[in-house]
Amino acid sequence: MRRLTLILGLFWAVHASGADVSFQREVWPIFKRHCIGCHSEQKKKGGLRLDDVAALLKGGKSGPLFVVGKPDDSELIDQVTGDEPEMPQNDAPLSRAKVKVLQDWIAQGGKIDGPPKSDVPPVTIPQFYAYAPAISSVTIRSDGKFAAVACRSEVVTFNVDDDVTPRRLPTDFDLINHVELSPDGQRLAVAGGSPQQFGGIIFFHAADGTRESARRVGTDTLFKGNFAPDGQTIAVGGPTGAVYLIPVDEKAPVKNIELHSDWVTAVAFTADGKQLITGSRDKTTKLSSVEGLNLLRSVDQSPEMINAVAADPLTAISGGKAGVLLRLRL
Ligand code: HEC
Repeated sequence: MRRLTLILGLFWAVHASGADVSFQREVWPIFKRHCIGCHSEQKKKGGLRLDDVAALLKGGKSGPLFVVGKPDDSELIDQVTGDEPEMPQNDAPLSRAKVKVLQDWIAQGGKIDGPPKSDVPPVTIPQFYAYAPAISSVTIRSDGKFAAVACRSEVVTFNVDDDVTPRRLPTDFDLINHVELSPDGQRLAVAGGSPQQFGGIIFFHAADGTRESARRVGTDTLFKGNFAPDGQTIAVGGPTGAVYLIPVDEKAPVKNIELHSDWVTAVAFTADGKQLITGSRDKTTKLSSVEGLNLLRSVDQSPEMINAVAADPLTAISGGKAGVLLRLRL
């Protein structure tokens, strides 16, 4: 709280004194926090990139981002203000204080005092935790003897029946959302990433903790997943509504199915590996074909988001915030 007061105090002081708004220190952090997920090198929505000075000054498909000295005539301000601001798309509007920073910056000339800095601190994993970290995902081998647990940025694996020191497997993910052992128990998949930066997947050899392969997927954290029955591919849900089919083999391409309109929070293969059941924050449960990468059926009967799905050879079930279990005959 003290720190917050200090920051607010500083903020006020900067503005009250009439000092120029700094692009690097004040504007860029707003873009980075709220916009970069869709306006960066990887994703230039509306033709606009905000993570590069030249591109930012060029603007998007409707032209320049701002008119020097004239916030009210600027596309940027137009997009983030109004009764229902269009940007950031699908997200809460910017606070008035943040909008004011952007307005003042343009009014003062829209100067760039330094390039966008990617000052994201590297992930650090404490040697000892002062408090037990929250667990986000667990998996256990079918013989019940080996398990893996995800805590923030690392996975801990251990033998259930003996007290040999657990093995710690660090990652560079801000948060791990999913760990899963392959059906034969040999391989451990770890999915997650860092918000508004990257989604990531790492495959470890379960027994000795060595890395088999790893890759980045998209520009935001990945959620839950499920190994295909053959253990060679994992399907993982993403934040933009896509489900990614990620092979263990690094040279094989990642395929994706654009299925949902919001976070894909749960994924399960059918027993034969031919179909996928997915659940989403968009409240739907969907069945799709793995080979055709297309939608087969959609169930829209939940009034709230879905966050768990499962399947046996005949039936799929899904459930979520509404507390109702939906059933789909396969
Ligand atoms: C979830 C994705 C998403 C986020 C986050 C997002 N945008 Fe956009 N933005 C879009 C899309 C999609 C378009 C294109 C809309 C269209 O063409 O109708 C767009 C268009 C724009 C445009 C118009 C570009 C042009 O020249 O036509 C501006 C300006 C803009 N966004 C600014 C922002 C700002 C500033 C933020 C952060 C406060 C932001 N956006 C966050 C998806 C996003």
